Amino acid sequence: MNAQVDRPIGMFDSGFGGLTVARAVIDLLPSEDLIYIGDTARYPYGPKPASEVRSYAIELATSLVRDFNAKLIVVACNTAASVALSELQSLLSVPVIGVVEPGARALVEATTNNRVAVIGTVGTISSGAYESAVANAARDVSREVSLTATACPGFVEFVERNETSGRAVTELAEKLLAPIRNADVDTLLLGCTHYPYLSEVIGRVMGSGVRLINSADATASVVRDVLAENNISRSVGSGAQSSSRHSGLHEFYSSGDVQQFAEFGRRFLGPELSVAKQWPK
Ligand code: DGL
Repeated sequence: MNAQVDRPIGMFDSGFGGLTVARAVIDLLPSEDLIYIGDTARYPYGPKPASEVRSYAIELATSLVRDFNAKLIVVACNTAASVALSELQSLLSVPVIGVVEPGARALVEATTNNRVAVIGTVGTISSGAYESAVANAARDVSREVSLTATACPGFVEFVERNETSGRAVTELAEKLLAPIRNADVDTLLLGCTHYPYLSEVIGRVMGSGVRLINSADATASVVRDVLAENNISRSVGSGAQSSSRHSGLHEFYSSGDVQQFAEFGRRFLGPELSVAKQWPK
């Protein structure tokens, strides 16, 4: 029995968005325990100043390590990862993984015409994190990729209200995505973990010639690799190949209304989210 191996993965987002990443991690690494915190009392992070988001990220990540004994942290929020990842990595004693680099690599891998786009919150897009991450990912595979980056203020609020279809969100998508429709891209990265819940609307507005990708699966693969590199993985193999008998325990916390978090969150994540508890504990 290795005590460090048995510790949970800690993950946080401003609300429900990171559940897209939680779903991918649970599916890929079913024997890992997971603690998820949705900071719904202070969402949305997107319009807030970087310094404020950074202090929330430090508070949440520190709590995951201190109060829950997390062995690895996943910043399942593009806005927080864009402004706080390197600070968290130097502050904490455990590996910290963000969603921006994995998403950027998946985007560069997916394009065939080398014209790509990313959409995210105002905080994410104005940080310039995707410009650097896509440039790095393209350089690593010796390609030149042109990126159109656009903020989509308002999308997160629709998701947090569980209003993921209908006229109002479609009209907003038509307005916000117009610059990307004009940019002749073949691939669009959903650079906010809330946006996969709007895939149907975004896909319809963009049309069938544009492939939508999100960072959840790519991030889960990085989690698997980093656990293995640090010898703190519970799984031998992964997913269906896992030879571990332990079935992962998943706990969900919210800084806001826990009943609503459990109810909406279950619709987004699935049956693993049966109850939500209050954070801070
Ligand atoms: N899911 C967060 C992200 O990926 C959310 C943003 C927000 O709270 O505005 O950026």
